[in-house]
Amino acid sequence: MCGIVGYAGTRPALGIVLDGLRRLEYRGYDSAGVAVVCEDELLTEKRAGKLANLEKALSERSGPDGLSDGGTASMGIGDGTTGIGHTRWATHGGPTDRNAHPHVARDGRVAVIHNGIIENFAKLRAELEADGVQFTSDTDTECVAHLLSAELTRLRTAGEANGPQLLAAAMRSVCQRLEGAFTLLAVDAALPGVVVGARRNSPLVVGRGVGENYLASDVSAFIEHTREAVELGQDQVVLITGDAIEITDFDGQPATGKDFHIDWDSSAAEKGGHEYFMLKEIAEQPQAIADTLLGRLTDSGEIMLDEVRLSDQDLRDVDKVFIVACGTAYHSGLVAKYAIEHWTRIPCEVELASEFRYRDPVLDRSTLVVAISQSGETMDTLMALRHAKAQKARVLAICNTNGSTIPRESDAVLYTHGGPEIAVASTKAFLTQLVACYLIGLHLAQVRGNLYADEAGAIVEQLLKVPDKIRELLAGIDPVRQLARDLKAAPTVLFIGRHVGYPVALEGALKLKELAYMHAEGFAAGELKHGPIALIDQGTPVVCVVPSPAGRGMLHDKIVSNIQEVRARGARTIVIAEEGDTAVLPYADHVIYVPRTPTLLAPLMTTIPLQVFACEIAAARGHDVDQPRNLAKSVTVE
Ligand code: F6R
Repeated sequence: MCGIVGYAGTRPALGIVLDGLRRLEYRGYDSAGVAVVCEDELLTEKRAGKLANLEKALSERSGPDGLSDGGTASMGIGDGTTGIGHTRWATHGGPTDRNAHPHVARDGRVAVIHNGIIENFAKLRAELEADGVQFTSDTDTECVAHLLSAELTRLRTAGEANGPQLLAAAMRSVCQRLEGAFTLLAVDAALPGVVVGARRNSPLVVGRGVGENYLASDVSAFIEHTREAVELGQDQVVLITGDAIEITDFDGQPATGKDFHIDWDSSAAEKGGHEYFMLKEIAEQPQAIADTLLGRLTDSGEIMLDEVRLSDQDLRDVDKVFIVACGTAYHSGLVAKYAIEHWTRIPCEVELASEFRYRDPVLDRSTLVVAISQSGETMDTLMALRHAKAQKARVLAICNTNGSTIPRESDAVLYTHGGPEIAVASTKAFLTQLVACYLIGLHLAQVRGNLYADEAGAIVEQLLKVPDKIRELLAGIDPVRQLARDLKAAPTVLFIGRHVGYPVALEGALKLKELAYMHAEGFAAGELKHGPIALIDQGTPVVCVVPSPAGRGMLHDKIVSNIQEVRARGARTIVIAEEGDTAVLPYADHVIYVPRTPTLLAPLMTTIPLQVFACEIAAARGHDVDQPRNLAKSVTVE
């Protein structure tokens, strides 16, 4: 979490850094700050709250020319061409002005911003305080600023480094002392034109411009300026000036990053006429699914996943699949379990990534661990992946973010082509994760020869129809909005489902909790009578996710019975059913029909009304839909 941006070039840095922060604000929005080197002065501003508070403070400090600050600098913060900026999700220290980044060393010349957690900060702080340093914040980051400034002084005095290299050398030796996860950026007033970054277990990418270069937590911060990026490796320090990018490891040995081209277009990170990013991203789902399928299917039902660097023999050797993920991505894994086990007959377990390594799971070389992550940076998932690799399991990532840590550390990756997801609540990432899971399940089954050939062809045919069906569903979504507004004051909303409808119920409840701050719970419909049915009171809204009547077994009839059970106890039933399903009508207070799809693919349809429902209730309750309280898009702490 936390978004960081750095710029070195010839244009005024402040506007570029603020634009970058605007695009990264989804990563954390407790506070924001900037530091700009102007001639040989360091100018900073920081504020608790959203970026708008920082922008207001910046506009108030501008001098009569709108740029100079009226301070000792002959120029103002708007003039400097070297800068760093930060948008924060608080870990150590509450979200206050003083805890906002940048943190400045006591000499007033060195500024640092940080994403991550420095685990040994208490020890470092005690040492610094014993040396007489007075801390001005409660953060773990401030100690880095003081350590860096002291190291710069030592190196200057010893003559061990000079010019721009000084800051990189100082950063390397400070990093050697830090434990935990961090991305750090630093500037020094004595070194205008230089920004230095470092990364361990936290994301940092370089944007390669012409006469200017960028550093950021993710590429969306600079895609407006350049599409050429460099992915940094673990434990590396990078120095940028307008003309150079120099990468070393923490020992000072030259290192190389991996160049890549960003194919997202910059308008993908704008709202495009929608009121919220979330609504835009819901509307983008047909395209995101089509893009994720593109080039991976043949008409005869073959799945072509050449980019997944696992040989057919490796896949034939798999005797167990574990899926690890968090939150919404975990729900996509729960759906995948039904599909993978049905198509491949390989046992598949789905586990919350945060729990996985602590329970000592049984893994070996023939275990396939599938790590699902939109951001590719979720620390819980990354740690689960590392644990799996240490036990010799093979790890396949499903990820939306090119160049992020999880795919880089996995043996293989299948990218979802969802484009940037800016709203904190995941929508199109979920649907594209489902599609990627279906592709992996079908591919595994085909390689191992245990899928009925006729079923594969039919599923592929149905997958290809999904984008148009979602368009049709979205075109008729207004009644869901109206219903959501009617229910905005409900104290609790329950969601029930069976089979793949159960993870959809969990996802519907999660969306409502995180956006509308309402009590919401998802249940396996069959479990209701074992306890949760006691929650049903007169008028309690219960959203019932109903499978196709044409689906397997007695699923449909069973859930219709469950709907009757809750209704008999006073529930207000909102039924999501397949078009043409009239059997639900006698027990439904409201029906939302979705286009027909095979049972295993149904979550691609039934999830959508629940996304719109949560978004609309949150808006009706006056909440910030794209940036719900207490959350961050990319959770880079455990
Ligand atoms: C909920 C949501 C989160 C994420 C979870 C994992 O709407 O977005 O639950 O799904 O934090 O994030 P990634 O997929 O980036 O690993």
